[in-house]
Amino acid sequence: MLIRTFDQYQAAYQHSIEDPEGFWAEIAQEFVWRKPWKKTLQWNFDEPSVQWFIGGKLNITENCLDRHLAERGDQPAIIWEPNDPHETGVTLTYRMLHDQVCRMANVLKRNGVAKGDRVCIYMPMVPELAISVLACARIGAVHSVVFGGFSAQSIADRINDAQCKVVITADGAYRGNKEIALKETVDDALIACPSVQKVIVLTRTRTPVSMIKGRDVWMEQELKLVTADCPAEEMDAEDILFILYTSGSTGKPKGVVHTCGGYMVYTAYTFQNVFQYDTAGGASPQVHFCTADIGWITGHSYIVYGPLACGATTLLFEGIPTWPDNGRFWDIVDKYKIDILYTAPTAIRSLMSFGLEKVENHDLSSLKVLGSVGEPINEEAWHWYDDHIGKNRCPIVDTWWQTETGGIMISPIAGVTKTKPTYATLPLPGVQPILVDENGQEIEGNGVSGNLCIKFPWPAIIRTTYGDHERCRQTYFSTYKGLYFTGDGCLRDEDGYYRITGRVDDVLNVSGHRIGTAEVENAINMHTGVVESAVVGYPHDIKGQGIYAYVIAEQMPEDHDAELTKRDILATVSRVIGPIAKPDKIQFVTGLPKTRSGKIMRRILRKIAEGDTANLGDTTTLLDPGVVDEIKAGALVEA
Ligand code: PRX
Repeated sequence: MLIRTFDQYQAAYQHSIEDPEGFWAEIAQEFVWRKPWKKTLQWNFDEPSVQWFIGGKLNITENCLDRHLAERGDQPAIIWEPNDPHETGVTLTYRMLHDQVCRMANVLKRNGVAKGDRVCIYMPMVPELAISVLACARIGAVHSVVFGGFSAQSIADRINDAQCKVVITADGAYRGNKEIALKETVDDALIACPSVQKVIVLTRTRTPVSMIKGRDVWMEQELKLVTADCPAEEMDAEDILFILYTSGSTGKPKGVVHTCGGYMVYTAYTFQNVFQYDTAGGASPQVHFCTADIGWITGHSYIVYGPLACGATTLLFEGIPTWPDNGRFWDIVDKYKIDILYTAPTAIRSLMSFGLEKVENHDLSSLKVLGSVGEPINEEAWHWYDDHIGKNRCPIVDTWWQTETGGIMISPIAGVTKTKPTYATLPLPGVQPILVDENGQEIEGNGVSGNLCIKFPWPAIIRTTYGDHERCRQTYFSTYKGLYFTGDGCLRDEDGYYRITGRVDDVLNVSGHRIGTAEVENAINMHTGVVESAVVGYPHDIKGQGIYAYVIAEQMPEDHDAELTKRDILATVSRVIGPIAKPDKIQFVTGLPKTRSGKIMRRILRKIAEGDTANLGDTTTLLDPGVVDEIKAGALVEA
């Protein structure tokens, strides 16, 4: 399964194109299956319908835990570094993790969770988060992890969409020098969530929380009432493993569905190959440090499932890169002798801005591979990462993928693929990218750019959007017939290397967080006095993209304080979506540039937000071209 040379990569790629089923079947055979599959793949992108390893039965936790016990039961599976460096961390060996997952699974059963039930998880980055995720998988319950930065309203929307029966949370979370009241937010959400019968609460900050009789139970007390004996539920390869909500260009976030078999095979294969994780184990196994939150797909695939399926040691960090100071990542790298560091460009740019003091007083010599994910990495950040963190001896893998793809799609294989700054380079085996023009015509050859699509299924492709299959078809499979459309623009250079240039739809990527412009507009429009708004992204030095909101407000009184109103709007967005969606800039306008048919011309608003007002293009089709001059003048004041 492990590719070691570029020739091997090319051979594997060729094999995967000529005989995809044979290629993936060979890899899948390395896992533990209760029953073998009867047919490797059945698919059509029109419905869409994709099934891998049909008829195969398995449990992903047997592959992530049980099968490692004989050989590496005493090897660390999860190393946990708490927010406060003075607090003692936790190391869970595979045996300990297995034991705790089984106990937690029994707690879920005790609280009425059965195979197929949905469980919402809203927790800090503590071992119990990974344990809860795996406990769901153990008994065949479907987890829906919600990132701790989302509001009560966002949690409620997600719980209701999936009709979750149980919520797992904590009293509070530590993030840098802040304490965040998680349970309180869950309590607010649950006012509008009739499907929820039980809430399991972990003690973390021991902040006072309300515990409702009959509904809320303490995790610690529940754990005392169960044994560590919990046989894994037998799952079909195509049973749902989890739902993860993500933003699109329209409407509310959609629940991306991944299934047990294909997701397991794909995350394990990509983890081991892209990062060249050495699974020898032994006395000092390699340590993989992915800095993402488990609330996002990166955490699901490359903190929990991928590494554990490979028997790796994965580090889980509760805190933030800048607390107690901006050397925190480097403290962790030295403390645990991290081999692989996988982080986001936004974190790199943020740490870059502090200078080199905190980098230079660290050793960092344990590092072997550096990874980047979540957004395009700019040349300056790439070189800083290469020069100062990898000391020019660690390959950088710029990994392009999405919540919907389940795992890494286009990326160098560390030390095998020649890298090129800002390029995700080449597709992994099994991935068949194509570039198309607006009409869906394939753009062949090199030195071209277009919209990035994938023309053949890979094992971890999205299966559906939960509860609304038509939305899945519409969003990903209807733009270009017979193709999965990624929503990304892409360039293929003379060497055939791919570079992702960013979203071509109305999805923003703010600090690696995916946010729909429509969602932010809806939140702003909920604020009293707001008539209409339009949200666009603009280049931001640290966040990659910032959020720029143009807002039409009702006639304000003479003594109205615009700054105060802006702050109120921010509070509304925080309340409706969460702090991550707060606009960086708000500009009050009296009108928006609209076509005669009433469509907002975002192209113009984007240009103005970028400060590129000289090239607004054709504005003659606008209903009221005068509005553009007013917005331009106002934008100068904002800047
Ligand atoms: O625009 C691409 C960008 O992030 C989007 C997917 O976001 P999400 O589903 O939240 O998953 C992020 C983590 C996998 C993509 O459509 N993106 C992700 N990785 C890269 C990237 N853009 C450029 N380069 C990357 N390496």
